[in-house]
Amino acid sequence: MKVIAGSASELLAGRLAKALGCHLVKPERKRFPDSETYLRIPEEVKGEHVIVVQSTCSPTNDNLIELSLLLSAAKDLGAGRVTAVVPYFGYARQDKRFKPGEAISVRTVCKIIESAGADDMFTVDIHEDGIIKNFAIPAYNLSAMPLIGRYLAKLNLHAPVVLGADQGSLVRARRAAAEISAAYDYLEKTRLTPTEVATKIKHLNVAARDIVLVDDIISTGGTVVEAAKILKKQKARKVYAACTHPVLVGKALRRILAAGVKKVIATDTIEHKTSVISVAPLIAEAIR
Ligand code: R5P
Repeated sequence: MKVIAGSASELLAGRLAKALGCHLVKPERKRFPDSETYLRIPEEVKGEHVIVVQSTCSPTNDNLIELSLLLSAAKDLGAGRVTAVVPYFGYARQDKRFKPGEAISVRTVCKIIESAGADDMFTVDIHEDGIIKNFAIPAYNLSAMPLIGRYLAKLNLHAPVVLGADQGSLVRARRAAAEISAAYDYLEKTRLTPTEVATKIKHLNVAARDIVLVDDIISTGGTVVEAAKILKKQKARKVYAACTHPVLVGKALRRILAAGVKKVIATDTIEHKTSVISVAPLIAEAIR
């Protein structure tokens, strides 16, 4: 078994190789003057189970091409089995045609990964579980929420409530909360007019309690900032934000902290300074 490190996931690939007790391969890569990507697997992989680890985070299109080139090179070079590990699955939020004429981008991405040569695929907290049904190969969506829950145990939280950022994140909140036997709930958004949305906490009173907002992705931080404002108004004690994928574009982290969030907790599906939890043991266990 060999783990190949894509450039977006070098740290995680190293941790995964260590967890699996196998060799880590660092591909040779360069950029041609016309911006094309050059990749070479500098080792024999014939007959091996090859695991390519590459998140398709920003720069998304470059990382996706790199993933495809690595998968097809491994296949062409005679690997016995090729596993794609895509810890953060880019384009997952474009899983529907929201407006007539739109591309359903994630479907195309699934086809690219499969036709590049993957025999199976593992991802973590993909935006919608149903997306993996686009694959004809075995595809698995792992949840980092129990790992996040276990991390929360270190924070010494007072009467904690784990709060899904929306109804879609309620299951995530429940999974994380179970690890610390905490209460869980979600934020409900009601559309008042085409441009106005009212957000409220569905059931629980948050006053004087520590709150952990959980979501799959924190991108611009807009969702967390909005939620933090509501929680502060309702006299929550401390507010934390936890997510699997710290996309955190531009000044998102600064905005979130400025909104009174004490700490942002994330995993290493995307390498970021908030990545305090590794999903390597989770992926290693699933692959084994
Ligand atoms: C949306 O459905 C996702 O689960 C996240 O809530 C969303 O992607 C977060 O984005 P932002 O940080 O830009 O509000």
